[in-house]
Amino acid sequence: MAGPLLVTGGSGYLGGELLRRARGRPLAATHHSGAAAGPGGVDWTRLDVRDEQAVRSLVERVRPEVVIHTAYRQDGDGAREITVDGAAVVARAAAAAGARLIHMSSDVIFDGAKGAPYDESDPPTPVTGYGQAKADAEEAVSAAHPDALLVRTSLIYGGPEPSRHERLATEAARGEGQAFFDDEVRCPVVVGDLAAALLELAERDETGILNVAGADEVSRWEFACLIASSAGLDAGHIRRTSIAESGLSRPGNCALTSRRAQGLLRTRLTGARARLGVGA
Ligand SMILES: NC(=O)c1ccc[n+]([C@@H]2O[C@H](COP(=O)([O-])OP(=O)(O)OC[C@H]3O[C@@H](n4cnc5c(N)ncnc54)[C@H](OP(=O)(O)O)[C@@H]3O)[C@@H](O)[C@H]2O)c1
Repeated sequence: MAGPLLVTGGSGYLGGELLRRARGRPLAATHHSGAAAGPGGVDWTRLDVRDEQAVRSLVERVRPEVVIHTAYRQDGDGAREITVDGAAVVARAAAAAGARLIHMSSDVIFDGAKGAPYDESDPPTPVTGYGQAKADAEEAVSAAHPDALLVRTSLIYGGPEPSRHERLATEAARGEGQAFFDDEVRCPVVVGDLAAALLELAERDETGILNVAGADEVSRWEFACLIASSAGLDAGHIRRTSIAESGLSRPGNCALTSRRAQGLLRTRLTGARARLGVGA
C-alpha cells in the first residue's frame, strides 16, 4: 500500500493497534471524545461519523487508498445511529473517493443457535439491539460500497492495555465483579493478530464477508478464567452462570470459523487457550 491508510476510531482499542502496526505508512485517523493518542506521524481529525460533510471533507483531503472503519458505539446515547448511519456515511465517502473499505463487524450478528461455527455464508440472525445494529450496518455498507470487505470478528483482547473483557475478568477474580456465562461461546482474538490480519487484507482485493477471529472456541466463563490465571490471579473466585438462568435474550454459541482467512493470510489467529492457558 503506497497511499494513505485512514483508520476511523483510531482512539479505540483496535484502531490504536492498527496505527501502531502501520507505522511508517502515511496514516490518518479519527477520534471523537477520546484522546488522539498514539504513535507520531498520524494525521488526526476529531469528528462524529454521523456527520456526512465532515467525513466527506476528511476523505477528500486525505485521499486514502484504504479506509478501515472501526468506529462504533455498543450502547448509550446514539449507539444505533453511530453504528449504522456512521458506517453508511463512511462507506459512501470511501466509495465516492474510490478507496478500498474494510468494515468491522461482529459475531453477535448471530443468534448462536446454529450448533456449529458460523461461516461466511451464514446470514445474520441478531437477537440483541447491538447485534441488530451491526447486522444493519453490514447491509448499509454493502449497499453504499459493494466492493467493501466486511470483517466479522469476536472478543478483542491482548493489547498493551487490558481490554474491557480483561478488566472485567481480573475484577471478578479479585471477588469484585460479575459472573460469566458458561453457555455463551465466542472465539476471542488477540488485537495484534487482528490488526496484522487487517493490514494484510488492506493489501489484497478480497470483497464480501470474511471471518477473522481466534482459533479457540471458549465460553465467556472459560475466557475470564484464562485471563485471570494468566495474570497470576485465582480463577476460582470467578463465578459462573448461564444465559438460561439469567433469562436474558443473548446469543449462545457465536463461534466463527476463520478457516478461509487462515488459508489467505500469513498472520496466524492464535486461540485463547494457546495464548493464555496451556502452552502459553
Ligand atoms: N471489542 C470487541 O470485543 C469487539 C468484538 C467484536 C467486534 N468488534 C468490532 O470491532 C470494532 C472496534 O472495536 P473496539 O473494541 O476497538 O472499539 P472501542 O475501543 O470501543 O473504540 C470505538 C471507537 O469508536 C469511536 N467512536 C465512538 N463514537 C463515535 C462517533 N460518534 N464518531 C466517531 N467515532 C466514534 C471512539 O472514539 P472516542 O473514543 O474518541 O470517542 C473509538 O475510537 C467495532 O466496530 C466493533 O463492533 C469489537
